[in-house]
Amino acid sequence: MTSISIRNVTKRFGDTAAIDGVSLEFAPGSFNALLGASGCGKTTLLRLIAGFEHPDAGEILFDEQPVARPARQVPPEKRGVGVVFQSYALWPHKSVAENIAYPLETRGLAKGEIATRVADVLDLVGLRGFDRRSVHELSGGQRQRVALARCVVARTRVILFDEPLANLDMHLRASMLDMFRDIHARTEATIIYVTHDQSEALALADRVAVMNRGHVLQFAAPEEVYRAPADRTVASFVGRGSIVSASAIGANGALRAQVGDVEIPVRGDAAAGSSIRVLLRPEHLTIGTRGAAAEIVSSTYKGASHEVRARLLSTGEDVLLELPAAARPGAAVFVSAHDGWIIPGGD
Ligand SMILES: Nc1ncnc2c1ncn2[C@@H]1O[C@H](COP(=O)(O)OP(=O)(O)OP(=O)(O)O)[C@@H](O)[C@H]1O
Ligand SMILES: [Mg+2]
Repeated sequence: MTSISIRNVTKRFGDTAAIDGVSLEFAPGSFNALLGASGCGKTTLLRLIAGFEHPDAGEILFDEQPVARPARQVPPEKRGVGVVFQSYALWPHKSVAENIAYPLETRGLAKGEIATRVADVLDLVGLRGFDRRSVHELSGGQRQRVALARCVVARTRVILFDEPLANLDMHLRASMLDMFRDIHARTEATIIYVTHDQSEALALADRVAVMNRGHVLQFAAPEEVYRAPADRTVASFVGRGSIVSASAIGANGALRAQVGDVEIPVRGDAAAGSSIRVLLRPEHLTIGTRGAAAEIVSSTYKGASHEVRARLLSTGEDVLLELPAAARPGAAVFVSAHDGWIIPGGD
């Protein structure tokens, strides 16, 4: 198991800093997700760790040993890193087994050992019995699993996944989540997993790094990122919800937020009387006979629930609710909340 330390790393392309003074500590054997909008620097960070890019400043260490500094680089093949990119490169006319065996053959492993390991990873990715099939006879999802198997078979101490499920439909993605858990449990590798899809990040990772424009805004457990986002950008990016303006009442430990003429229990930090922004998650709001007066704006069927948007009469701000039944647009209602999070950094 290997720790990965990113210390003050900057990587520029021309005038743009794709990675801008980033520091992160990935614990040995941990499963980490990088989450963030397109262009925020996720792939660049993976390429720096793998050794395909060189930092302009800062250093990267594996188990406290430097592998990348502006002046000195350990080449990618000496880092013991496995990478699965979104566009997996397989040999279409070779068989599944030949594709997977390739990294072991280049290392000169014995034939018997190779066969055992290939059979083992085929099992892991749910492709037992496919070994003789040619890759061009496989579906997209099956090809993606061959690419994962080829990476895992090498038993590297670090595995980097760059949107490995990006080409798959929702059902296949969901069924592959268990496979990633298996891969993690079986290999004990330190894993960094890049995704646009927050539900994947929250479901799989021990810790999630939320990135924006070359910076890391928060690096914490999924529950913490969801319940207590570090700033407004993280709050808007992770999960659904609404942000309303309010003023703080009471003291730490029993803080409340006054929104219009109603009070909501809130978590976080604020001086009494100060202006705050409060994040309200849809599942913490209800409609009833008490609360803030509001008008229903829209109601959208979501299968298990209805997503309802209501406008607070006191401030004109919209809040999002998750309700068991539909609401009628235009109806006058009262909205109450049993939890809120004071977004750090004020308003
Ligand atoms: N080789 C390159 N030359 C110039 N600019 C680059 C290069 N690679 C990346 N960039 C720029 O660096 C920034 C970060 O790119 P990166 O590919 O790391 O983003 P990303 O978070 O992986 O995005 P996506 O989710 O779309 O894959 C972007 O502004 C991108 O245009
Ligand atoms: Mg990318």
